[in-house]
Amino acid sequence: MAKLGGFEFWKKSLKEARFVVAPMVDQSELAWRLLSRRHGAHLCYTPMLHAQVFVRDANYRRENLYNEVCEEDRPLITQFCANDPEVFLKAALLAQDYCDAIDLNLGCPQMIAKRGHYGVFLQDEWELLEKMVRLANEKLSVPITCKIRVFKEVEKTVRYAQMLEKAGCQLLTVHGRTKDQKGAMTGIASWEHIKAVRKAVNIPVFANGNIHHLSDVERCIQETGVQGVMSAEGNLHNPALFEGCSPPVWEMAEEYLEVVKQYPPCTLSYVRAHLFKLWHHTLQIHQDLREDLAKVKTLEGLADVSKQLRLRCQEEIAKGKEEEEEKEGGLPFPHWICQPYVRPPPKEPVANGNSQGSEVKKTVCQKRALEDSDGTADTLSKNKQKKRSRNPNKNFCPEQKPKYIKCEQCGNPKVSHGLRFKTKAEKQKAEEDEKKEGSATETIQIPDPSPEPPL
Ligand SMILES: Cc1cc2nc3c(=O)[nH]c(=O)nc-3n(C[C@H](O)[C@H](O)[C@H](O)COP(=O)(O)O)c2cc1C
Repeated sequence: MAKLGGFEFWKKSLKEARFVVAPMVDQSELAWRLLSRRHGAHLCYTPMLHAQVFVRDANYRRENLYNEVCEEDRPLITQFCANDPEVFLKAALLAQDYCDAIDLNLGCPQMIAKRGHYGVFLQDEWELLEKMVRLANEKLSVPITCKIRVFKEVEKTVRYAQMLEKAGCQLLTVHGRTKDQKGAMTGIASWEHIKAVRKAVNIPVFANGNIHHLSDVERCIQETGVQGVMSAEGNLHNPALFEGCSPPVWEMAEEYLEVVKQYPPCTLSYVRAHLFKLWHHTLQIHQDLREDLAKVKTLEGLADVSKQLRLRCQEEIAKGKEEEEEKEGGLPFPHWICQPYVRPPPKEPVANGNSQGSEVKKTVCQKRALEDSDGTADTLSKNKQKKRSRNPNKNFCPEQKPKYIKCEQCGNPKVSHGLRFKTKAEKQKAEEDEKKEGSATETIQIPDPSPEPPL
């Protein structure tokens, strides 16, 4: 069959998908995709895969794509990060028989993407991107698609999208946030930018950002004219978002755990992370179970904590706490109901010309109080969530971190002086010398590295 492109591809291969589950590292794995599809999602993306690793490592290919093949899991788009046209092509050729299209990640703003020179850090390298997309479009048997972030300027964003379209991109996902809108500065996505791109290209466009309810999906499609809407955080907190309903958390958690069991293997840390997101509000009340959820080491253990959370909620319901909870928590629903995750507002307003700011900002501000008072829970960076899962009592408050003692000579923390020595003997000798001078090196706990913002 001839390769389909643009709107034909969207209509026939993607079956006019409008409700799209975003690519999510460690989170859009097979079991989660299947759960989301059962609850209204039309199309899913794999988590971002590293093209170079995919090419060189057969295990990586098996674990992240080949072993996840499943009839129910279509249409599916495989996403890669890459910065070399040949490597990207090789990876895509190895993946194309297992999916309906190959996506190039041009939106990841994390430090790791900066170091690896991919994601949004390729946003200014139009010549390179043009080559990557052109080659993939020429050689692959499935269409090539791109997921981008916007530039501050609408006009530049439009030119960027047109460049990718001209190079052969067959579908574009526009995340309406700029490269700098990440971590604490995430803020609101600009649908105005998305609308301008939609008008300027002749390929299908998906909008990404600000989707909390099914009503946002409908409003977004109406306001921007896009073909579909992609959700990440909204989907993680309520996998039934696209069905337009807000089920009890335990229904989603238990159904997800069933799917995990039916389609092994699933990495335990992914399952744990999903349960933390789903039970986000309940865990703020039942803190003891948060610790249990962080500590258990088996799937059965996770299922058991989830069951205990359900029993606690059902006990509260039986006691008629429902109305009380609603009033006290400030949540739209009691804590045991899947509900939208609204990001905290940025520390400073981000000027990217968005039009629906005030209404969304208001809701966001109202929800700020819902975040953990110690700034933790799933507002923690991934690194910190991992650390907390190993040590539930870990304190992330910056004021309470151990302070470095500065070296008077070089200005670096004295603790890092340990790195000066190539051998233990050299180190021991230096320590003895220091002791003689009366200034022994202090043992100080090294603080955590700076947090990684979400992708
Ligand atoms: C846990 C998590 C993992 C993510 N991983 C990816 C990824 O692999 N590739 C990608 O393009 N974006 C990734 N993103 C970004 C989302 O796809 C999406 O662009 C972003 O979260 C904004 O959408 P939202 O407002 O619906 O959350 C990730 C987001 C989250 C929350």
